[in-house]
Amino acid sequence: MKIGIIGAGNIGGNLARRLTALGHEVSIANSRGPQTLSALAEETGATAVNASEAARGARIVVVTVPLKAVPDLPTGLIDGAADGAAVIDTGNYYPQQRDGRIAEIEDGKPESRWTEEQIGHPVIKAFNGTYAQDILSNGLPKGSPGRQALPVAGDDAAAKQVVRDLIDELGFDTVDAGGLDESWRQQPGTPVYGHQGDVEAVRKALAEASPERTAEWRA
Ligand SMILES: NC(=O)c1ccc[n+]([C@@H]2O[C@H](COP(=O)([O-])OP(=O)(O)OC[C@H]3O[C@@H](n4cnc5c(N)ncnc54)[C@H](OP(=O)(O)O)[C@@H]3O)[C@@H](O)[C@H]2O)c1
Repeated sequence: MKIGIIGAGNIGGNLARRLTALGHEVSIANSRGPQTLSALAEETGATAVNASEAARGARIVVVTVPLKAVPDLPTGLIDGAADGAAVIDTGNYYPQQRDGRIAEIEDGKPESRWTEEQIGHPVIKAFNGTYAQDILSNGLPKGSPGRQALPVAGDDAAAKQVVRDLIDELGFDTVDAGGLDESWRQQPGTPVYGHQGDVEAVRKALAEASPERTAEWRA
């Protein structure tokens, strides 16, 4: 499958490693240009491209840049993607350490709702609470006892299923965490954030989440 990854850091790099190993055709971009991604391209077989080209023809696009960089992404970022493409947002709002204050999120807008408005395309929230290293090292075959589960939230049922199937291929179970309006349940500071449990544990953690953003996660 053609997959475009925008962001080549901890998460984007490790997704490129695993997805190319699974035989997917991956294009990957960062902010500094494809010439700075030659080592990753050589290691993985992914094609390094400009951010404006990463989505071209892709069935799945992954947006995995710091939240504060989302407004800087090229206009029409997803325009060249395949019809009905699923766009994964891995982002988290880190106001104190990285992103500064984003008023709408402070006022209660779910982080991924803000991101989809910025990029002008619906998103599926996934991987945001998953350690980058887990993507490389924790995948297990379907049916393995204790297989790690990832929450997946989004409004487009078909796109969500495509993303859940891809995560299964990567070696993880998934839990349907509802629509994007419910995606605060998996944001930083919630019980499921950084969780490495199985389906049952992730369901429980999602149910125990509170919509109140704690002081640590406010500007
Ligand atoms: N690290 C984790 O374990 C983890 C886990 C779950 C979720 N997340 C979330 O996932 C997102 C990415 O995290 P990360 O740790 O992978 O970040 P990271 O290691 O800092 O990498 C960020 C990547 O985004 C690229 N980028 C920045 N601005 C860009 C732009 N305008 N256009 C294109 N590319 C741009 C950077 O390119 P340059 O280097 O060229 O600037 C870099 O390749 C964040 O929201 C983070 O909170 C991280």
